[in-house]
Amino acid sequence: MEENQVVSMPRIGDPAPEFKAVTTQGNINFPADYKGSWVILFSHPADFTPVCTSEFMTFASMEAKFNEANCKLVGLSVDGLYSHIAWLRTIKDKIEYKGMKDVEVKFPLIEDITMEVATKYGMIQPGESNTKAVRAVFYIDPKGVIRTIIYYPLSMGRNFDELYRVLIGLQTADAFSVALPADWRPGDDVIVPTAGSCGVAKERMESKDEMHCYDWFFCTKPLDKDKVLKTVLKK
Ligand code: BEZ
Repeated sequence: MEENQVVSMPRIGDPAPEFKAVTTQGNINFPADYKGSWVILFSHPADFTPVCTSEFMTFASMEAKFNEANCKLVGLSVDGLYSHIAWLRTIKDKIEYKGMKDVEVKFPLIEDITMEVATKYGMIQPGESNTKAVRAVFYIDPKGVIRTIIYYPLSMGRNFDELYRVLIGLQTADAFSVALPADWRPGDDVIVPTAGSCGVAKERMESKDEMHCYDWFFCTKPLDKDKVLKTVLKK
């Protein structure tokens, strides 16, 4: 791909582009096979590379946590199926890293030698690499709509606690019709939608309920951690 070539990239709010692919767990029809679940579709630059290995071990070790939040994981790189299989076997059989060992990657890893899927999703970013996908993360909701996109460069491993925080945040914002402030975590105050009119704002600022208004455009209220976990994790 030319460095200056214009490619269309999926955006937040777009339906997830459709594709059929071969994976380490069989064939998939995306996103139709995932209807009703959240799914994180993520790319990595190459099999048998150190940053990607640390990421796969971390993601695989946290998979149950993501599944509990009704979210499935799907990986992709522009390597072939046999490379994927050999790399994942090496990880399981040989790599011990930060207390993780015998790590089995159970989620599907897409082979994309033709770069068809990576190109469709804007994962090939020629300023970074013409031949490898960047570290892209797409959050797709149960209706197949892209809700968040995060990119990291080749040289920097992702923060998987942050990836989990974003998933829980998206589900919380949906379930409670709220927005979430900087660094929000379950149990922190949430932002209530803007009051809209001065009268409502004044009422809110004077109200004695749990809402706290810093000004007319910035009101928060508590949202109990257990309530969030019960709703999102059904716990
Ligand atoms: C890595 O995963 O270690 C890696 C992959 C591609 C370029 C640089 C680092």
